[in-house]
Amino acid sequence: MNILLLGGGGREHALAWKLAQSPRLGKLYAAPGNPGIAHHADLVTLDAADHGAVVSFCEAHEIGLVVIGPEAPLVDGLADSLRDAGFSVFGPSKAAAQLEGSKGFTKELCDRAGIPTAGYVRARDEAEAMAALDRFGAPVVVKADGLAAGKGVVVAMTMDEARNAVTDIFGGQFGAAGAEVVVEEFLEGEEASFFALTDGATIVPLASAQDHKRVGEGDTGPNTGGMGAYSPARVLTPALEAEVIEKIIAPTVRTMADEGMPYSGVLYAGLMLTRSGPKLIEYNARFGDPECQVLMMRLESDLVELLRACADSALSALPVPRFRSETALTVVMAAQGYPGTPKKGGLIEGVDAAEATGAKVFHAGTALKDGALVANGGRVLNVTALGASVRVAQATAYAAVDRIDAPDLFCRRDIGQKEIAREMAREG
Ligand code: AMP
Ligand code: GLY
Repeated sequence: MNILLLGGGGREHALAWKLAQSPRLGKLYAAPGNPGIAHHADLVTLDAADHGAVVSFCEAHEIGLVVIGPEAPLVDGLADSLRDAGFSVFGPSKAAAQLEGSKGFTKELCDRAGIPTAGYVRARDEAEAMAALDRFGAPVVVKADGLAAGKGVVVAMTMDEARNAVTDIFGGQFGAAGAEVVVEEFLEGEEASFFALTDGATIVPLASAQDHKRVGEGDTGPNTGGMGAYSPARVLTPALEAEVIEKIIAPTVRTMADEGMPYSGVLYAGLMLTRSGPKLIEYNARFGDPECQVLMMRLESDLVELLRACADSALSALPVPRFRSETALTVVMAAQGYPGTPKKGGLIEGVDAAEATGAKVFHAGTALKDGALVANGGRVLNVTALGASVRVAQATAYAAVDRIDAPDLFCRRDIGQKEIAREMAREG
């Protein structure tokens, strides 16, 4: 089967790498892809916003499955256009992708389905939002309703910070994504992510992971798309995982189907593990980046078969997917300046030497310039390793990082550290 993969980051490199291991794969095409993805796919130039062009490409290349990596084309309805043209698509419809595309939509769905989440007010104008802030008091969380590339959330410790966030969002900081604001109760606890596939009826739990969102060690500095991750996240115990599926994932899937917007694709639940149980922070309608990298590293089952079954509403016929019991851990190497304006063009050497340690280096923001690999984005490489424990996976990942010669890149040195401390406490 020929597959078209849309996207060009570390998440898509991990997907391409895993898809390429399947005997079911015919030809893999990727748009736009990146130099890492090019090892597994033919790179093609296609504008995901031009639905007609994507459909024509699929017709001309006998595409049996389209895998949509990032959120923007999903929220824009690309999956609908492709399905209308008769193609199998991994990824939700425009209506279902509102779970990521509108925070207000998701909060209201939680109300209707009785899903545990932070208390909130959906504010359509500044006065409404300011009144909500007064009611909640600090600390409080202010969110732009729509997609804001991960930058639309302010966890405000003071009322001033919260009021400024509201003024900025309604002032146009995020354009149309800030036409509405969600003001939310501040939740305390540890964060974890949980991933499940669903075809709208059947739910197939995949795995848990924990991301490291702040740019600096010890969780300091500004938020990023994620500086590293590991899977599984043991804070999400089997009992908690069962509770997440029963109280959060299942009612979401059921309610979306009942309301005529069946959700098909991967459901990525961002969770806060509070003293009163797991609560939903947000949904994403796609795999996490860099969480996908650690999930793919652990996945033993055939990814082509899984994604195709998900697209074709046939998940109930598949065996439970198998994951390695080992921990996978990924370290993001980012360009100086990230998450602000990253420095582009920095030379990267030593990727092969890094992989000789047994680690896998996924490309996120790279490019080839005169035959040399250079940085071409904020997050540049995802150095990923498996280990019998988080400590071993971390040691292998950093040993590989240390073989990469790229003076313009930096990374956090503490990915997985909190869990390693717990491992050491368990071992006594
Ligand atoms: P989101 O984009 O909704 O995942 O939010 C980004 C980050 O803000 C989350 O990963 C949390 O660390 C934090 N956050 C979001 N909502 C809340 C909340 N209600 N209470 C505490 N922290 C939150
Ligand atoms: N790593 C966070 C995300 O993919 O949204």
